[in-house]
Amino acid sequence: MPDLLHRTVAILRECDPKQKARQTHALAKEWKAGAIILGKSDTASIPQSPGRPEDLQTVAPGAVPRRRIGTPEGRIALLHAIAHIELNAIDLALDMLARFTHDPALADTQRLRFATDWLEVADDEARHFTMICARLTQLGSYYGALGVHQGLWEAAYNTRNDLAARLAIAPMLLEARGLDVTPSMVGKLERVGDSQSATILNIIYKEEIGHVAKGVRWFNAVCEISGKEPELHFQDLVKMYLPAALRGPFNHKAREQAGLQKGYYEISYP
Ligand SMILES: [Fe+2]
Ligand SMILES: [Fe+2]
Repeated sequence: MPDLLHRTVAILRECDPKQKARQTHALAKEWKAGAIILGKSDTASIPQSPGRPEDLQTVAPGAVPRRRIGTPEGRIALLHAIAHIELNAIDLALDMLARFTHDPALADTQRLRFATDWLEVADDEARHFTMICARLTQLGSYYGALGVHQGLWEAAYNTRNDLAARLAIAPMLLEARGLDVTPSMVGKLERVGDSQSATILNIIYKEEIGHVAKGVRWFNAVCEISGKEPELHFQDLVKMYLPAALRGPFNHKAREQAGLQKGYYEISYP
C-alpha cells in the first residue's frame, strides 16, 4: 500500500481534475482513519507542474475572458476563473505536503501535524472545485470551456526551495488576496440575482480564512525555529519573490481573523 507522500505525488500528476478531486477526498479519508503511513519524501518525483487535461487551453494572464458579472457569459467567465484557482489550490496544498513535510525547517515532532493540515486544505479545495464545477454545469458550461493562465502556479513554484517563502507567497499572500476580493464579488452576484453562485463563494470565503490561518501558524513556527522575526521575514520574502502582488485594499477583518496582522502586510516600499 503506497504511503501518504507517494499517493500525494500521484494525485499531483493526475490530469483529470474530477479524478484529482475524488482522489484527494479518498486520501484525506484514509489518512484520517489511520489507514496509511506518512512515508519518506521523494521530492525529485514531484512534477514541475501538476497534471492538467490535455485539451486545456493556456493563455497569457491578460488574455482570459472578461468577467462582467451582469451577463451570463461574464458570470461563467468568473466562475471558470475561480474553478481554475481552486484546482490550482488543490495542487498547491498537495505540493506543500509532498515537498515540505520532511523539510529541515520543521522539527520532527511537527511533521505529522504539518502533513495533516495541508491534506485538510487540499480536501477543502477539492470540495470548492467540485462546487464551482456543479454551478458551471447549471449555467451550461464546464471547467475547460475557457482559456486559463498559469500565473498562480508559477508564482508559487518559484518558492519551491524555501518553505518560509512558500508559506509567505501561497497562503499568506495569494490566498489572503482572495479574502480581500471575494466579499465584493458576492455582493455583485447578489445584486444581479445570482444568489446560488453568491452562496457558494460565501462558503469558500469562510473556509479560506482557515487556510490563511494555517499558513500564518506554520510560517510563525518556521520563523521560531530559525530565529527570525516573522513580520520582517514575511516582508523580506514578499519583496524578494512577488513585490507587485501586495496591494490593497485589504480586508483587515478577515486577515485579522486568520492571524494575519497589519504588521505583516502593510509594507512601505522605499
Ligand atoms: Fe478554495
Ligand atoms: Fe484555500
